[in-house]
Amino acid sequence: MIPKYQLLFGIILCLILAGEVASNIPESGKGLTGELDAARINGGQLMNESVPFQVSIQMLRRGRWRHFCSGSIVSEQHVLTAAHCVDKLQVGNLSVLGGTLNWQLDGRHRHRIVAKHVHPLYTMSPRIINDIALLRISPPFQLQLAEIAAVPLGGGARIGRQMPVRLTGWGSITPTSTGAQVPDRLQVLNYQTISNEECVQKGFRVTPNEICALSAPGQGACMGDSGGPLILTASGRPLQLVGIVSYGSATCAQGKPDVYTRVSSFLPYISKILSQDLAQATHKR
Ligand SMILES: *[C@@H]1O[C@H](CO)[C@@H](O)[C@H](O)[C@H]1NC(C)=O
Ligand SMILES: *[C@@H]1O[C@H](CO)[C@@H](O)[C@H](O)[C@H]1NC(C)=O
Repeated sequence: MIPKYQLLFGIILCLILAGEVASNIPESGKGLTGELDAARINGGQLMNESVPFQVSIQMLRRGRWRHFCSGSIVSEQHVLTAAHCVDKLQVGNLSVLGGTLNWQLDGRHRHRIVAKHVHPLYTMSPRIINDIALLRISPPFQLQLAEIAAVPLGGGARIGRQMPVRLTGWGSITPTSTGAQVPDRLQVLNYQTISNEECVQKGFRVTPNEICALSAPGQGACMGDSGGPLILTASGRPLQLVGIVSYGSATCAQGKPDVYTRVSSFLPYISKILSQDLAQATHKR
């Protein structure tokens, strides 16, 4: 049985998309209209340490910047996120905010998005695959500062099951849309990966290019966490980005896996985009 799933992006964006692009919603994408199940990380904790590579991706609505997705800094000029976060949006109305645990504080590190690269084979139907995008920002991140950093991407080795991982995000703290709350402060959940086979058994038709993590009922990613980082925290191994929040069950934290885009499967794509942009920048000078 395939559980109903939802993409895990922001409530505000979801409402916008439900109203503005209703005709584009694929049959399988039930998360967008009928069930605006909002939710922060459910069952997480306040994050007390800075996460210098995490940014909040925001949209200007009625004169205010609103968080709707997360991303990770991967170069001086690039943020890695989920394709579904930005696929339908014009970048002119978006910005990224880095260097803060609180997305409401208008920090010094707000950057415009000047270009988006959505994976050419990203699709939501018949299943969500290649849910990855890179955003080029301006001005460049000040990577020399302690509060800003690029996240290591690790090598191409596949991460197996039962690996300790950490999700951080500003997604809503309740499992359903009624009374959805987006916290100001970054939340954290430490949990574990499961094998792709187990993820399939639990109802999500993942491909080798996704990675799943599962915690106890009551804990998991939720709406507004999309695009955010899943970090490998195994002792004795360097910290590295292993996943990008993609989708989960229609009501959050019901003991179903959270599905992430598997970063190690997309390293060639990421380097291609980074070097393309670099070449373009050099060419312009
Ligand atoms: C951060 O601090 C708060 C308040 O002291 C605490 O409730 C929370 O558990 C801490 N978070 C972590 C990840 O230790
Ligand atoms: C911003 O969004 C509005 C609608 O929400 C749209 O009309 C406008 O063209 C957008 N501007 C840019 C620069 O993308």
